[in-house]
Amino acid sequence: MAELRLPANSRIRKGTDHPAPEGAKRPRTFRIYRWDPDSGETPRVDGYTVDLDDCGPMVLDAVIKIKNEVDPTLTFRRSCREGVCGSCAMNIDGINTLACTRFTDDIKGDVKIYPLPHMKVVKDLVPDLTDAYAQYASIEPWLKTETPAPPDAERLQSPEEREQLDGLWECILCFCCTTSCPSYWWNGDRYLGPAALLQAYRWIADSRDEHTGERLDALEDPFRLYRCHTIMNCTKTCPKDLNPAKAIGAIKQRMVARR
Ligand code: SF4
Ligand code: SF4
Ligand code: FES
Repeated sequence: MAELRLPANSRIRKGTDHPAPEGAKRPRTFRIYRWDPDSGETPRVDGYTVDLDDCGPMVLDAVIKIKNEVDPTLTFRRSCREGVCGSCAMNIDGINTLACTRFTDDIKGDVKIYPLPHMKVVKDLVPDLTDAYAQYASIEPWLKTETPAPPDAERLQSPEEREQLDGLWECILCFCCTTSCPSYWWNGDRYLGPAALLQAYRWIADSRDEHTGERLDALEDPFRLYRCHTIMNCTKTCPKDLNPAKAIGAIKQRMVARR
């Protein structure tokens, strides 16, 4: 996975250090971004030293332990702890990933945890995904047809047609890719970003969908699609090993093919 350097933020100050519990056999310090908009204070980084011998193996285990046993004000999202809901996406050790699938032991030194970069922050590790979800909604992520469904059967696909969706349907909308994309950082108000574009291609590639031309028309725009400059951060960081850059390339090929 690629290293992702966070932009320097001189407004972040050092916060409180919480020492290891007495008798800790394998102490490890987690340095976690904290910001409460209601406090009126600037963001800070708090340190929490956890005994890894008394903690589950994943970064999310440690974050939950910190919240349960040390600091109940620590705020983050999580749900499935199985890498399928996308809620626990954060920037860990400089990489956008899922806290529930990242082994703490794979990280050297202090574990630095920040919210997904270049998004507004709701509180602590919770990014504001309002715009990202609106962009996802804009690609109309549902099957659109004109032909009525067969009265006594599903809309069928051949195995080959179904295979076209592999590498697309698995996306869990964690937005690790979108928030690692420099083009999205600078033009996130107009560029859809890799997550929404991979999802757009998921419906363009679906043999049952009958609105492919309309879907391509909606993307034919210098910003919505063509701000992708194939920098590939998205593909390098995807915790599900998907390839949003390839999906974006496939949309561009469809654009060329229909000219
Ligand atoms: S390949 Fe495109 S979408 Fe992916 S990081 Fe680069 S510019 Fe962004
Ligand atoms: S493509 Fe990967 S990184 Fe991007 S939203 Fe989907 S699962 Fe997350
Ligand atoms: S908690 Fe669901 S992906 Fe991590």
